[in-house]
Amino acid sequence: MKTIIEPFKIKSVEPIRFTTKEERIKILEEAGYNPFLIHADNVIIDLLTDSGTSAMSSDQWAGIMRGDESYAGAKSFYKFESAVKKITGDKFIIPTHQGRAAEKILFSVLGGSGKYFVSNTFFDTTRANIEFTGAEGVDLLCEIGKHPEQRAPFKGNMDIEALDKFIKKIGKENIPLVVLTITNNSGGGQPVSMQNIRDVKSVCNKNNIPLFLDACRFAENAYFIKLREEEYKDKSVLEICQEMFSYADGSTMSAKKDALVNIGGWLSMNDEELAMKCRNLLIVTEGFPTYGGLAGRDLEAIAQGLEEIVDENYLHYRLRSTEYLGEKIMEAGVPIIEPPGGHAIYIDAKRFLPNIKPEEYPGQSIVCGLFIEGGLRTCEIGSVMFGKYDKQTEKFIPSMMELVRLAIPRRVYTQSHIDYVAEVVIEVFKKRNEMKGCKIVYEAPMLRHFTAKFKPL
Ligand code: F0G
Repeated sequence: MKTIIEPFKIKSVEPIRFTTKEERIKILEEAGYNPFLIHADNVIIDLLTDSGTSAMSSDQWAGIMRGDESYAGAKSFYKFESAVKKITGDKFIIPTHQGRAAEKILFSVLGGSGKYFVSNTFFDTTRANIEFTGAEGVDLLCEIGKHPEQRAPFKGNMDIEALDKFIKKIGKENIPLVVLTITNNSGGGQPVSMQNIRDVKSVCNKNNIPLFLDACRFAENAYFIKLREEEYKDKSVLEICQEMFSYADGSTMSAKKDALVNIGGWLSMNDEELAMKCRNLLIVTEGFPTYGGLAGRDLEAIAQGLEEIVDENYLHYRLRSTEYLGEKIMEAGVPIIEPPGGHAIYIDAKRFLPNIKPEEYPGQSIVCGLFIEGGLRTCEIGSVMFGKYDKQTEKFIPSMMELVRLAIPRRVYTQSHIDYVAEVVIEVFKKRNEMKGCKIVYEAPMLRHFTAKFKPL
């Protein structure tokens, strides 16, 4: 059959509240033109994030009832540990309440001023946790990954030559860790190839630097490998996942993505001494090592989610439905990062609104336009999120790319929801010549996009 159907039936539904355009204009103004500050009840289709927004399965809900809430040594922990080990192969599995909690612990142990961490592209919370310790995060994305309009199978790859050069320049003793973000969220949800993981590992090995995976969307990355890297076409996704993790010395994970749960994460590794240090911090900040900031029921839901995420029918539907949205809006001329990523479509705001300068935040204008037009909530990933000011001259330094992310929650929306999303995007695109930029009227010193307030120009 040609039609790819959602590989699930719906057992429980959540009503959507509809609003009028007039209501949305007022709602947006009251939220300082920042959709993070809008009540979710005022959103028709919520594409703000794919994080923690998955619909759980009936088996996961059954796991919620089975959760063992013992403070120490709960049965649910051992189930969680064994599910994570099956995929990562790592010796030490430390549960955390979400991805950034794992990052906070890891970088508190390894970071500090004078240290450098290298990645294909660090996600914003990861970078913030690195910088918070006084260390620096350096992105070494491959050249093609920086060109939204160019197609390539693995635009999330790290630039191996640049990595080699950077290590020589800075000195391996100043680089405690290399991190590969799979898939590369900030760079368009683009995958990293197995070949690239192997090559990065080989450079790391030569220099005695450990490699970690920021593994949030590991299953989507694995399925891209299966589809696009010839030698993996007959391997199972689970085998591909196991091979990806086999090259890494550990991982940080937000289970809110590819473990299909609403909260949770982990930190895993093979180094016993590092694990001991991390566990000691875990006890201070998260909780006892067999629950780490989670309830027993959450650990059960993660364990079950990890079984379901490697299902190839699910992954086929997942990647294809994201691509479907990308194709629909591209046909109407909307510029996006090509090819479509795994968890989201990224509109290229620079080409959508070429007349709005980065310092007038073209991405934010599109985000506002999509909300007013059809009640869509989306997220700017551009100069609002990554723009900086030069410390000496206070001059504005724009982000490398100006993007708007339409992140697709897992197992939540049907094809007609996605058709509606495409219609709204195309409608806003038709009105692009009337759109104006905006300015920031309030911003926090770190991660400003969450709380910033704007005024349209
Ligand atoms: N790493 C990546 C690649 C991520 O995408 C995220 C979260 C994190 C780490 C942090 O995990 O939220 O559980 O603390 N990304 C979400 C997003 C917030 O919308 O892309 P967390």
